[in-house]
Amino acid sequence: MKRLLLLTSLIALVPLAAARSLSDIQASGTIRIGTEAAYAPFTYYQGKKLTGFEIELAEAIAKQMGLKVEWIDKPFDSLLIGLGQDRFDFVIASHGITAERQKAATFASPHYCSGGLIVVKKGGPKTAAALKGKTVAVQVGTTYYDQLKKLGGLKDVKTYPQNTDALQNLRAGRVDALVSDRFAGLEALKKDQTLEAGELLFQERIGMAVAKNNPGLAKALSAALKKVQANGTYTKISKKYFGEDIRCE
Ligand code: ARG
Repeated sequence: MKRLLLLTSLIALVPLAAARSLSDIQASGTIRIGTEAAYAPFTYYQGKKLTGFEIELAEAIAKQMGLKVEWIDKPFDSLLIGLGQDRFDFVIASHGITAERQKAATFASPHYCSGGLIVVKKGGPKTAAALKGKTVAVQVGTTYYDQLKKLGGLKDVKTYPQNTDALQNLRAGRVDALVSDRFAGLEALKKDQTLEAGELLFQERIGMAVAKNNPGLAKALSAALKKVQANGTYTKISKKYFGEDIRCE
């Protein structure tokens, strides 16, 4: 019994691992970045290669800081928690900057601006008003879930581990609509002519997150972002994936 108690108290201590400061990271030469690699065109696998807008942008930012990169691919809803457990130094995974999340993590300046887009099979409910009484799919742990709950009047909001699962269920006709990132939604549309875009439900600013109380690292990320935005690197990567520059105005 005593042993069991000791074990449970040790487990309770795990989340308290301290984050590495900027100088710890600089001394090691490598920055560990957490993401969820199932969110094209931001973070995904092309064969065995991790790629996408946020992958290339984070690598440009690390290079600007003189650091090598170690990527860690984890489920989306575990990423901000993982920061508190020192599993990675920062996460880049299309996180909308919200007051709720700012209680648990510190965000760098936004690296793009986007919003929650309704995606349907042709003929489906395309406006917030048309979603009343309908079943809508979202990825678990996303701002889309909160926004849809706020909207109210829906029949159900179904959550899926990955956005790709939510999309599959839309295709299969198990839900009436999907809400995802605007650019991720438009990417899905390119690959499937049976889908169409509806209204943009809300807008959000997307940022990289570091552990709470690691503001030095957040500042350094923001400064490196500013440099790659000033020297043409950001525009080049953004145009490659979107045909336009998606930075916040
Ligand atoms: N922008 C949304 C949010 O902040 C969705 C992000 C989903 N990201 C991902 N890598 N799956 O919650």
